[in-house]
Amino acid sequence: MTVHENLDHGKERQGGDLTGYQAGRISLDLSECANRLGPPPSTLRAVMSQLTHNPGALRSTPYQAVDDYAQAYARHLGVPWHELVCGRGVSEFLLVLSDLLSAEDVGLLTPEYTETLRRFAFATFYPPDAGRPDSTEHRLERLRRAMQAHRYVLISNPNNPLGHYIAREDLLAACRAFPRCSLIVDESYIEFVGPDLSLATHPAPASRPRNVVILQSTGKAWGLAGTRGGILWTRDSDLAHRAELRIPSWPLSANDVAGLKAALADTTWLHRTLHHIRRQATQLEDLLRHRFGGAVVTSQIHYRFVHHEQPAAVAEHLAEHAIAVRTFDGTERGRTSGLRVSAPTNTDEYGQLERALASLPSSLVPHPGRVYPAGTPYLGKAALAPLPQTAAT
Ligand SMILES: Cc1ncc(COP(=O)(O)O)c(C=O)c1O
Repeated sequence: MTVHENLDHGKERQGGDLTGYQAGRISLDLSECANRLGPPPSTLRAVMSQLTHNPGALRSTPYQAVDDYAQAYARHLGVPWHELVCGRGVSEFLLVLSDLLSAEDVGLLTPEYTETLRRFAFATFYPPDAGRPDSTEHRLERLRRAMQAHRYVLISNPNNPLGHYIAREDLLAACRAFPRCSLIVDESYIEFVGPDLSLATHPAPASRPRNVVILQSTGKAWGLAGTRGGILWTRDSDLAHRAELRIPSWPLSANDVAGLKAALADTTWLHRTLHHIRRQATQLEDLLRHRFGGAVVTSQIHYRFVHHEQPAAVAEHLAEHAIAVRTFDGTERGRTSGLRVSAPTNTDEYGQLERALASLPSSLVPHPGRVYPAGTPYLGKAALAPLPQTAAT
């Protein structure tokens, strides 16, 4: 059975979802984009201790959990805790904001994360210019174009799937230049670039712009995507309030929060593992470049995107070597055709990928000097219908 035979029609498998493969077929999941060295041992200890010493927390409504999470996350970000709205991962805020802003004028830089493309299908998309490969510089140009034209603009920074990262100073300059536009930044992968880079954290509190909205979660950098904690931060108290009203009561479980607090306090583990992963990702880039040349997108984070016209065929070959990668179908609106590969974390995993790539059929190896397509053009707002707003994330 192939990777794609087992997929329900119309239901795309996202990173880390191995349900499309026969049980036991995959031993190395490079499709997921959470820190593959997580969860931190301190988190496991905290959850075990909570279950052992406070089993009543499973029975009681978790009145305190959100405040505990907000305080721990606020310490991590260096912001007052009452400025945070807490919810079930960045996913919940994408849903809430798409609902809140559905009648607003929103611009979205593409390519972008699957759920964002779906939830904000009503937005005006800004793909790379025809014939021009995407890059950090080109994204910044498009960002400024979009901020000039729209009331809200949404990006992920670093970007999923390409991994491009726009420096904080450039984003802040754009916010100052276009004060009538609010910039929503999904910072799910910011820790992978380095510590203390969030737009929420700098500059000093009083000069933090009002027209910035930050989304983050404890899912990716801490390797805790199985728990569902996340935050929205903004100095726009009206928007924060309207978002908070859409979050259900007690969104976070006390058990999760016991572990998440321990994770947020464990900065040593976070910095050590992310430093290791960045180094591994540089090696991954060299390995991929050896096979796919200029099709590999340079990035500073833990995954690399490879432009490819037959991503499913490459994924199928890798699955024969028990490896899963994330594929993207470039015919869909807002997409670029290719694969996203997360960094192996040790020499065994690296060797497994190296052997699999060495036997890639030559028909799947791109010709040197090939120029890569920029992604699908803007096809009109109705080209991909938004998901029903009631669908669970
Ligand atoms: C850019 C981006 N935003 C948000 C999410 C969802 O994050 P969470 O697990 O915090 O809901 C993902 C998950 O892959 C992502 O890649």
